[in-house]
Amino acid sequence: MKQKEILLFGATGQIGRNLVRKLTKNNYKVTAITRNIHRAGYILKTQANPGYLDLIELKNFSEDKIDPLIQKCSICINLVGILYEKKNNQFKNLHTDLPDMLSKKASKYDLENFIHLSSLGIEQALDSIYANSKLNGEKKIRNNFKKAVILKPSIVYSVDDKFSTNFMTLLSRLPFMPIYYFGKTKFAPIHVSELTDIILDIIQKKKNNLTLECVGPEQLSFKEILNILLRAINKKRLLIPLPNMIAKISAKVLELLPNPLLTQDQLILLKYDNIKSGIYKTNNDLGIIAKKKFETEIKKYSYNWRSGGQYTKN
Ligand SMILES: NC(=O)c1ccc[n+]([C@@H]2O[C@H](COP(=O)([O-])OP(=O)(O)OC[C@H]3O[C@@H](n4cnc5c(N)ncnc54)[C@H](OP(=O)(O)O)[C@@H]3O)[C@@H](O)[C@H]2O)c1
Repeated sequence: MKQKEILLFGATGQIGRNLVRKLTKNNYKVTAITRNIHRAGYILKTQANPGYLDLIELKNFSEDKIDPLIQKCSICINLVGILYEKKNNQFKNLHTDLPDMLSKKASKYDLENFIHLSSLGIEQALDSIYANSKLNGEKKIRNNFKKAVILKPSIVYSVDDKFSTNFMTLLSRLPFMPIYYFGKTKFAPIHVSELTDIILDIIQKKKNNLTLECVGPEQLSFKEILNILLRAINKKRLLIPLPNMIAKISAKVLELLPNPLLTQDQLILLKYDNIKSGIYKTNNDLGIIAKKKFETEIKKYSYNWRSGGQYTKN
């Protein structure tokens, strides 16, 4: 059987790495795009058997470079995304203009599918630049290519994430942890392997014209998540609610760091629950049930943050 060709943008990220492995194991041939093959290529080269993965370095996503790549593939998947803006990395370019261009090309060459990763909980967050850029991206895609599938996950976590791992580092180093909005904001964390199961299912069953919210089995408040992480790393820390004014000032300062822990825009997003909205179907409605519990999965890699590492006694 001829292998199906999948063109993958954002392949080196947390979701991309896991997806490359899953797709290539299932007989799909992946062409992965990265901005720097030397920085990121080593992560991907080990993810596939010979012949199943091509790496292409593109410093910028100009139409003349992307056109011939899309023309050759059957399915295009876009996982490019950022959490904060820096110089050339602007939300509008990456979350609105790039999906706009890719979905136009998907339509021009009548691809079997264009699968795009947006975010959950952004419909309410109209005062956030991140949320607006993602929502505008969704609108462009819907206008350009009816068959497209838009996936909207809550927090996606794994040993490769920038969420649980960063918080375990902070919790193990800081004597106390500031929390925002009393830690009441709710999330439905989904393990990366279950999100990529959803993507594989969509490809295998040829599901089209769909916007799907991707949620894990639990709804946890931010405070509950921090307490799970604290239990996992065997530490006790005070969780101190910050008044809004102080939270805003701290975000203003923190966003000046090269890799900011918190930006003013992220603080705005944190106001809004990140759980199923009722507007769209979820993976559960399609029978793709995410079962992995946050605490169980975190325990599989949290020993790295415990004093004594893997030799810690439970
Ligand atoms: N992780 C989550 O919790 C979560 C939750 C909701 C939605 N999402 C969405 O899911 C998608 C994938 O998330 P992820 O966690 O896998 O992200 P990630 O680990 O941060 O990876 C992002 C990818 O985007 C590419 N990228 C970043 N800046 C770029 C730029 N300026 N130009 C071109 N490419 C750029 C990077 O590729 P190179 O560096 O190799 O070029 C990288 O592979 C994103 O759209 C994200 O918004 C993620």
